[in-house]
Amino acid sequence: MTILDDVTETAGTEPSAATRAAIEVEARHTAHNYSPLPVVAASAEGAWITDVDGRRHLDCLAAYSAVNFGHRHPRITAAARAQLDAVTLVSRAFHSDRLGPFCAALAELCGKEMVLPMNSGAEAVETGIKVARKWGVDVKGVAADAANIVVAHNNFHGRTISIVSFSSDPLARGGFGPFTPGFRAVPFGDADAVAAAVDDNTVAVLLEPIQGEAGIIVPPADFLPRVREICTRRNVLLIADEIQSGLARTGRTFACDHWDVVPDVYLLGKALGGGVVPVSAVVADADVLGVLHPGEHGSTFGGNPLAAAIGTTVVSMLATGEFQARSEELGTRLHTRLRALLGHGVREVRGLGLWAGVDVDPALGSGKQISLALAARRVLVKDTHGSTLRFAPPLVITADEIDWATEQFAAVLADAAVRQPNRAV
Ligand SMILES: Cc1ncc(COP(=O)(O)O)c(C=O)c1O
Repeated sequence: MTILDDVTETAGTEPSAATRAAIEVEARHTAHNYSPLPVVAASAEGAWITDVDGRRHLDCLAAYSAVNFGHRHPRITAAARAQLDAVTLVSRAFHSDRLGPFCAALAELCGKEMVLPMNSGAEAVETGIKVARKWGVDVKGVAADAANIVVAHNNFHGRTISIVSFSSDPLARGGFGPFTPGFRAVPFGDADAVAAAVDDNTVAVLLEPIQGEAGIIVPPADFLPRVREICTRRNVLLIADEIQSGLARTGRTFACDHWDVVPDVYLLGKALGGGVVPVSAVVADADVLGVLHPGEHGSTFGGNPLAAAIGTTVVSMLATGEFQARSEELGTRLHTRLRALLGHGVREVRGLGLWAGVDVDPALGSGKQISLALAARRVLVKDTHGSTLRFAPPLVITADEIDWATEQFAAVLADAAVRQPNRAV
């Protein structure tokens, strides 16, 4: 019996008392700001999560790409363990022997000079916005409080007040005002609209090179090169939010690499922490990051020795190109298998590397309904808007596991086609 047979045999069993109890206690005492699938993780390894009942699930979400290298990758956990026995936190009040090497390695990976380490992705985005505004005043000569930043419709950059201030998702904004001014949104993929939105007070264009939460939207081939040219010509910083798309997810180190575009600022997060601790960073040259002086920005945990040790290991794993190559090769397989389902319940497949957005025929169910049915078959994916699912497995997933996951998806679609829960009557 193979691993996959073992998984399929237990498919569809009802949640146990242990699963129900874990979900109930969470529902009572944890804010309801998420709507998770009813799977209660107890342990995980590689691409697999084992729940409290000992059932194994193939993780095809990878914590929104924070677990690119798989759960508990042995190189990453070894680095973390070693650092736990040395020093974990001194704050930036003192130096640590881990921070400099981490920043040097990450800067080299990015082809930049400096790194500003933070923790969550949203913090990196906030930091990027602050750096761009300060650069605008100190270097570009924009008047105080006059700066604007061009962003894209349907962006997702996190959940802080300033970030949701330029979100186009009503759920992200409803009830949270007043909002931070200074942002102008244009359609994603429309370089003419970017050009029209830029004026003398524009300090940055902030974009996800591929929009993740919007449904893995890949822009037209000339979009990022044209935006790069506009930013250079108008003396505007191009800030690439590679927090989800970067670090090998799309088959390249950075999604921007697909178009040979080098932004002025990279925003990184998620996988930089190896799935162990939150590690994020703003990476740029000294003429950009050099605008910050002591006291103007900071974070108690940003760049702590544990984070830096893990981040250094992640960067060295990326430096070989192994994970990028895996993502590209296995991504082709994933996309081929998903595209074979076009016309069989799938309407569109988008993405690059091991990152796929799949629009399911809404007559077959919402994204949530389809992901619940897939979870019952031990494949964990997450819906985004409407009937769109995203597949983003850890990059250590195998070809057999991809085949198995897409077979389960085909079976779910076939079942749904018989039941048609959302068929118009
Ligand atoms: C592109 C992008 N930027 C920023 C963030 C925010 O990261 P975090 O949840 O770590 O704050 C996310 C999270 O999904 C993201 O996808």
